[in-house]
Amino acid sequence: MSLNVVLLPGDGIGPEVTAEAARLLGRIGELYRHAFQLSTCLVGGAAIEQEGSSLPARTLDACLAADAVLLGAVGHPRYEDRSPADRPEAGLLALRKALGGFANLRPAACHPALADRTPFRTERVQGADILIVRELLGGLYFGEPRGYRDPETAFNTLVYSKSEVERVARVAFDLARGRRRRVSSIDKANVLETSRLWRNVVTEVGRDYPDVALEHVYVDTCAMRMATNPASFDVILADNLFGDILSDQAASVAGSLGVLPSASVGGRVDLYEPVHGSAPDIAGQGLANPIGAIASVAMLLRHSARLPREAQAVEQAIDVALASGARTRDLAGPGETSLSTREMGDAIEHALVELFDRHHTYHAV
Ligand code: IPM
Ligand code: MG
Repeated sequence: MSLNVVLLPGDGIGPEVTAEAARLLGRIGELYRHAFQLSTCLVGGAAIEQEGSSLPARTLDACLAADAVLLGAVGHPRYEDRSPADRPEAGLLALRKALGGFANLRPAACHPALADRTPFRTERVQGADILIVRELLGGLYFGEPRGYRDPETAFNTLVYSKSEVERVARVAFDLARGRRRRVSSIDKANVLETSRLWRNVVTEVGRDYPDVALEHVYVDTCAMRMATNPASFDVILADNLFGDILSDQAASVAGSLGVLPSASVGGRVDLYEPVHGSAPDIAGQGLANPIGAIASVAMLLRHSARLPREAQAVEQAIDVALASGARTRDLAGPGETSLSTREMGDAIEHALVELFDRHHTYHAV
């Protein structure tokens, strides 16, 4: 199969982790004989620097013409004092909107090899396997009007329509059917009107899925339960802001923010990105964990390329590398040696090739 993928390395550690993800995708192409065409474009602070815009027209056109987009990270401290519209992040938000993926899938599981790396007692996080389905194109992130009323008063708008809630709820229920058939819908319905609407619409959608158990959980309760009993969640359905916050919290269950992937689906072109940010403090030093970006490649292979076997191979290769003790700095315990970004990429690639060879030898016998 052939697939046209646009890479958007972006800022900070984005280029380092994207390089490893691209290398792995290339290796998959070689092993399984697929023609992946990769091209690279500018986004975020890197694009402001070179083209004067966080989402240049050339980048947007290339992404809209692609089969899938793989992004590294955006954000740079240089733009700290700028208003939201003039920051690198604005390019990412505009890109998400233009590509149209309204359902942001963020899986976060406690990897057996990393259970002792979380801040929680091992027995608490063991078995935790959460899929956050975050609404990505509405809510506080995009609500209008927004701005400053005067220099001392700022405001944003939290608005959701029935159709926005309904379409993302359907994605959550559909995905729950392939998992443990539970949806926890997150809101603040004791305070917010948008949350009351959210709750009513999700309840209505849930009637079409009698085989899926639905519960409504206040966002504050959810935050606590994520720490005390994360294994009690299956699919978490949340609005844009709650989903943003809860997905970083879910990272602590997984062992590191650096290992979490995401996919934004349901629009014109699907967008894949690790959940982590640009981490300017460690950028350019080869310290970043490329697993979030590489696991995003696995999601791309499954959702956009419809290559479940190849997706599984990448996920297994990550598992094997972690089980064999490969650790970047974010995962290394005290006294443990840690690998560079590139070395972690190598370890995963090595595992991928070994798994492939073993499988092929097995079939040849
Ligand atoms: C994320 C990030 C982004 C978001 C930022 C960089 C705009 O935190 O993908 O979770 O808030 O969506
Ligand atoms: Mg975030």
